[in-house]
Amino acid sequence: MSSLSRPVLSPVEMFGRRLCNRLAVAPMTRVSAHGDGLATDRMKNYYRDFARGGFAIVITEGTYTDKDASQGYDRQPGITDQRQANSWAPIATAIADQGSLAIMQLMHAGALSQWHDARRTIAPSAVPPLGEMMPAYGGSGPYRFPSAMATTDLAEVRNGFVAAARHAGRAGFHGVEIHAANGYLLDQFITEYTNRRDDEYGGSVSARIRYPAEIVAAVRDASPDDFVVGVRVSEAKVNDFNYSWGGKSEAETIFVALAEAGASYIHVAGEGRGFRESSSDKQEPLSTMARRVTGLPVIANGGLHDPDPADDVILDEHADLIALGRAALATPDWPRRIANGERVVAFENAMISPSASIQNTDAWFARKLAHGVHG
Ligand SMILES: Cc1cc2nc3c(=O)[nH]c(=O)nc-3n(C[C@H](O)[C@H](O)[C@H](O)COP(=O)(O)O)c2cc1C
Repeated sequence: MSSLSRPVLSPVEMFGRRLCNRLAVAPMTRVSAHGDGLATDRMKNYYRDFARGGFAIVITEGTYTDKDASQGYDRQPGITDQRQANSWAPIATAIADQGSLAIMQLMHAGALSQWHDARRTIAPSAVPPLGEMMPAYGGSGPYRFPSAMATTDLAEVRNGFVAAARHAGRAGFHGVEIHAANGYLLDQFITEYTNRRDDEYGGSVSARIRYPAEIVAAVRDASPDDFVVGVRVSEAKVNDFNYSWGGKSEAETIFVALAEAGASYIHVAGEGRGFRESSSDKQEPLSTMARRVTGLPVIANGGLHDPDPADDVILDEHADLIALGRAALATPDWPRRIANGERVVAFENAMISPSASIQNTDAWFARKLAHGVHG
């Protein structure tokens, strides 16, 4: 296919502006901030390179929302106060200067916090997480035993998300993405086996989605009309790749609740799975269902690193936008290269192993360059 007629490269009007193509950088934790959660100069260049490379939307790594229990990792950036917001401002500007949409992902780790200095670990219910901490993000051994969130915790975490979104807006971001995917706090509410609450936030799927939806609504209400408030959901989790929602009606309930809460878009993450591998209904991928039942813009994600299948997702109206994770990490100028018919660098696990840090990826590229291999 001629690169110019590629659907993934076609412009679109969305979020009150013209996006130059259908491509977003998926949120990727890089554990590369200063110890106090401030974003660094290296992070600025890292994010600027995606915008310069042609991504219409750049979504940041999951950024922690309060100083109590939200932080997941050492060297994770935060957006909890003016200093942290100031450190992000040059990054938002660097992205916007290239004409790209700058979205900050807001994340509360909940029971999956593996930050060693955490004062406490909270979750919907006192259920120990499956699996073990992730070495690439600086953890090892079993997760800590979380305590169940009290009513006051629910209010404080909600306030943290709202304050974080305000800081992100003041730092120059065009919007935020509420992280309700991959097994972190808000996903722990959605998931039956981590949510054993007997109040209005536990039980049926309508009750389990209530708290994530309240967070979306609270951020929406506190934000200017043109501020984007997206939300990311997934079936799979970093500590449970095979988890599935309880069928089609459960998935529909989740999407509708988030749309009614005022989400600007729904991002369906394929953490560890391809975008089609929705076990709720093999005939209709989750992104297609999200589009059908909400009418909102939908971002599909998961294994869409080859341009032809990515084109099909857009062409067949399974999604409006596509987010690339590992492919963007390996080739920050993926859109520009595809448009020019140039080769891309294939992702290799060593780029994020033993550490997911930017420095580790830089070292990988330096080694390749030393051996005369060019992308
Ligand atoms: C190094 C790394 C860090 C990630 N960090 C996040 C994160 O902070 N927030 C999130 O929602 N997903 C995160 N993910 C998941 C990706 O956004 C994406 O869903 C996953 O890589 C699958 O998409 P892909 O096949 O395009 O890589 C991360 C993935 C990788 C590889």
